[in-house]
Amino acid sequence: MTDPFDQHLSRDNTSSVKFDARHGVFGREDVIPVWIADMDFAAPEAVTRALSERAAHPAYGYTLFPDSLYQSIIDWFRERHGWDIQRDWILMAPGVVPSLHAACMAYAAPGEGVIVQPPVYPPFFSSVRLSGRFVIENPLVCDAAGHYRMDLAHLEACAAHPDAKLLMLCSPHNPVGRIWSEQELEAVLDIARRHDLVIISDEIHCDLTFADKPRHRMLATLARPSDALVTAIAPSKSFNIPGLGLSALVIPDKLRRDAIKEVFDSLHLPQCNPFSTAGFEAGYRSGAPWLDDLMVYVQKNRDFVVETVNARLPGIQTQAPEGTYLMWLDCRNLGLDDAALKRFFVEDAHVGMNPGISFGEQGSGFMRLNIGCPRAVLAEVLTRIESALLASRGINHQ
Ligand SMILES: Cc1ncc(COP(=O)(O)O)c(C=O)c1O
Repeated sequence: MTDPFDQHLSRDNTSSVKFDARHGVFGREDVIPVWIADMDFAAPEAVTRALSERAAHPAYGYTLFPDSLYQSIIDWFRERHGWDIQRDWILMAPGVVPSLHAACMAYAAPGEGVIVQPPVYPPFFSSVRLSGRFVIENPLVCDAAGHYRMDLAHLEACAAHPDAKLLMLCSPHNPVGRIWSEQELEAVLDIARRHDLVIISDEIHCDLTFADKPRHRMLATLARPSDALVTAIAPSKSFNIPGLGLSALVIPDKLRRDAIKEVFDSLHLPQCNPFSTAGFEAGYRSGAPWLDDLMVYVQKNRDFVVETVNARLPGIQTQAPEGTYLMWLDCRNLGLDDAALKRFFVEDAHVGMNPGISFGEQGSGFMRLNIGCPRAVLAEVLTRIESALLASRGINHQ
């Protein structure tokens, strides 16, 4: 029997950013889109069923966040992550990125600083800058084998900056795929405590972990009740429903919760829609078996890419991420600057990945590959890159 995740699902003409914005982003239609972080798999059947059932009722009026939605969050995180969340800690939000913006506005004044750990998901920078705060960089350290870790001594120095107010943690980390160890997370909490920093921990990728790698630990399960911690969660990556646009913040401290709520209320956010709540709840209630199967499939994709890149693509190296369906390709040995690197992948290989440089200058020379697609697509991506590499050296690939 073929694996359901092997099936090709056409996403063309669905107004998908990944597929239908190709021309605008890459300047050509013939690139294989393996960039933005959603997957080319059908969502769990429980989700499509819940959405169809909701659509079948023809009243689409203003909608509440039902109690059952909150309960689905509480149950999921207790069962899956050993984290006991109280109902009144939860603040529904229109997305994790809007939450990052709101956190900047709530916890740092204009002109104050927010610590980020590049290379990192670009909205970590833009949310700080667009809200008139400034970025304090605590770059991750990459060893010769391509393994990333936090520079905790440098983080301590950043935290000691008199204007540092907020730390944005990406856990698991996009794009480097780290699952932070308990020791690293304890150290982060300790630094934040001693320097009076609020932490917003973006754990949107918390469910995307592999059986052969460390388990993800929710930062909140290591925190003390008095810690200034805001956790951003969503089922959007876990069940491939990011277009539904809904997330949640878990904030035990009432004053800090009210501060974010005030930002959302001032913009009349979050508006709730009947489909996002239905899809969100169905994922958390019934999506677990699908997610488990998904991660078995993605793990095989991951291993296939590691093996193929390291064996067949000279000048490019990669490592198995510990979590997420994103891989970080080190292309520095190709000897191309970032503009030439992007041109090589788009114009010569016809592959559309995210340039590493968009994750901060520490991403220079890297590309981010999304492996949330059928393996046959990845095989074609890697063959195209191999052919382009051979052609660049004047060798024809048959
Ligand atoms: C770390 C991280 N945070 C947030 C998001 C997006 O969250 P949302 O769609 O809820 O704004 C992504 C999407 O790729 C992400 O990787």
